[in-house]
Amino acid sequence: MEFAKRMEQFGEGVFSRLAEMRKNRVAEGKEVFDLSIGAPNIPPAKRIMEVMAKAVMEPKNYVYAINDTQEMLQAVAQWYQRRYGVTMDADTEICSLLGSQDGLSHIALSILDAGDVMLVPDPCYPIFADGPRLAGAELYYMPQKKENDYVIQLQDIPEEVAQKAKFMLVSYPNNPTAAMAPESFYHELVAFARKYDIIVLHDNAYSELVFDGRSWGSFLSIPGAKDVGVEFNSLSKTYGLAGARIGYCLGNSRVVSMLKTLKSNMDYGMFLPIQAAAVEAITGDQSVVAETRAAYERRRDVLCDGLIAAGWQMDKPPGTMFVWAPVPEQYADSESFVRDLLDKTGVLVTPGSAFGPSGEGYVRMALVQSEEDMQRIVEAVKQSGIFA
Ligand SMILES: Cc1ncc(COP(=O)(O)O)c(C=O)c1O
Repeated sequence: MEFAKRMEQFGEGVFSRLAEMRKNRVAEGKEVFDLSIGAPNIPPAKRIMEVMAKAVMEPKNYVYAINDTQEMLQAVAQWYQRRYGVTMDADTEICSLLGSQDGLSHIALSILDAGDVMLVPDPCYPIFADGPRLAGAELYYMPQKKENDYVIQLQDIPEEVAQKAKFMLVSYPNNPTAAMAPESFYHELVAFARKYDIIVLHDNAYSELVFDGRSWGSFLSIPGAKDVGVEFNSLSKTYGLAGARIGYCLGNSRVVSMLKTLKSNMDYGMFLPIQAAAVEAITGDQSVVAETRAAYERRRDVLCDGLIAAGWQMDKPPGTMFVWAPVPEQYADSESFVRDLLDKTGVLVTPGSAFGPSGEGYVRMALVQSEEDMQRIVEAVKQSGIFA
């Protein structure tokens, strides 16, 4: 058998290596505190599950959905109006995604031809780079450095690269650095995209997970944003619906239309009971969003305050479900630190190198364990003496 050359770029993958390390330790009868994968584990509100369960029992809901229901599109438009103050046209400016991962892995196919230039943040959530790679794009990394509070410096992108670029992806609050960008950055982004005629995709997966009373809205609320691009939004973290696969692409009608056309050839739409659950999630009682935010914030406090007290200096994240922490000086790289940390404490984290060249020197911890387990993690790290 011969397989596609494009598969060669995927290799074994760091998450498979981490899974192997986890398996080996469990086989030795030892405990693992897994902070490596950002899989949300706060369940959805009961009312959302009930609506989905009722719809699941309706025989008529087992046809191909093909299209998004008007009810769902209207609910999403109202949600954008209510939450972000942004007016969306339900018919032309919104389409559903089977989770934003679906959009992130496919949208480049609708915008880029092989060899076209795409601007991608570094470090980044891996599919930001893998989606364009599948489309054969040439990637230009936009560094997100600590000295700039992890915010992309648009003025540092070389003129010839900006001239060639067709598409760029930006995302704050950011995975993996957890950084937020000031509103002024978004104004610069719209001006930059206009100047160089670049389509922008803003991934807004964490707009509802910002802490300490901070607030963040939508890229689409910036004047001119809809002229240059789209935003992805996801119900995975906000409403605990990760496994149901619900996301949206919203904004520029030409970009939305191209993605819709591509997707209409790839999938037959979102299962109708899931569309019903989405409507219930975003139109029903929103107190669940504040509860989820508070739960992640408490986990962050227990983990970060404890680890800082144990001698591991790090910034407390202003949002997201991640902590981006520096690798101690005595380690050669992030992967060797990850191995030693697991060995000495049972805590499994992701090496920063998994997120791109600028990720080396850091590790990412996902806030996916309970407060009690976060406390046990802190104790294990204290006792290991790594930071003594
Ligand atoms: C920045 C970012 N975008 C998108 C996703 C995927 O979300 P979804 O569940 O909507 O596919 C994740 C998941 O961790 C993420 O961190």
